[in-house]
Amino acid sequence: MAVAFAPGKCILFGEHAVVYGHPAVAVALDQGVHVSLEQSDEWLIEGSPFIPDQHPHISHILHDLFKYESHPLSIKIKSELFSAAGLGSSAALSVAFGAALQTYLRNDEELDVIKLAKMGHSAEAISQEGRASPTDTAASALGGCIVVSGKEVDGTINIFHSILKTPEGERKWSINKVNIQNKSNDIYLILGFTGDASPTGKMVSGVSNLLISNPNKFQEMEAIASITTTGLTALSIGNFEAVGIAMDACHAKLQELEVSTPSLDRLVDAARPYSLGAKMTGAGGGGCMVALSRNPQRVAEEIEIAGGSPLISKLGSKGVCIVK
Ligand code: MEV
Repeated sequence: MAVAFAPGKCILFGEHAVVYGHPAVAVALDQGVHVSLEQSDEWLIEGSPFIPDQHPHISHILHDLFKYESHPLSIKIKSELFSAAGLGSSAALSVAFGAALQTYLRNDEELDVIKLAKMGHSAEAISQEGRASPTDTAASALGGCIVVSGKEVDGTINIFHSILKTPEGERKWSINKVNIQNKSNDIYLILGFTGDASPTGKMVSGVSNLLISNPNKFQEMEAIASITTTGLTALSIGNFEAVGIAMDACHAKLQELEVSTPSLDRLVDAARPYSLGAKMTGAGGGGCMVALSRNPQRVAEEIEIAGGSPLISKLGSKGVCIVK
């Protein structure tokens, strides 16, 4: 038997702008996905027959990447993340499944986290018609704080590069890490789920149409890029007051791009009096907001009162690991 865990992620800065080559900053969450694999007489997932077409991530990793031809497996999945909420649950599933399979097949090997990040990205691309940024899978595999950008980013440590053939042509990213200075360990993220799914593809194409009909909106993209750079500097020196201000500013620009919703705005407003900053996170249109605070329980209560489901996490948790 092999069991692996991979965390979900939260984008602190740069969602949507990253699609246009600007940097995005994401952190791994405490919560994630556990995958366990066990030999079985037939292919099972959660005790029911495994139908490959219904699980494109898993099928791609099994057959295209591992060329798996051995005996059937029973696959069990336990997720602590809201799904379709912008917290990277499908990326965490791919990374945890790849890690569990690597361990199951080659018991003695250490996890190759860069290989797992690339494997997860390839699985995401397969199931998203060739369009996926490496942000979610890199954060899930590497853990900590990740900066993904079309070009090198000053003040970060480059970990690897990623290339993907998309329907619009080849795209390249540089995946970098930043060490967050959180010496007193008193800073938390509080995620608030609106209860509505976040349709990433629809939101990304909505922004693209907005930019075509109103090219002035490119200014908002540039503004998000410079807020991301400011927020990243603040994170790396541990100035969380400045990180919070940058998060508030980023939310205002995402509202200008028309990707926030009244439910997201309501949760952001509820969290702000007890937070250093708060914003929507991910593609928007639903999904989650995130607040940064030294008073996580109070923020979680306010999110709940405003109708959201809260989740509290440290800022930049560990990446993929073997549990058994
Ligand atoms: C979605 O979590 C983030 C977006 O920037 C899309 C992407 O990076 O592929 C909206």
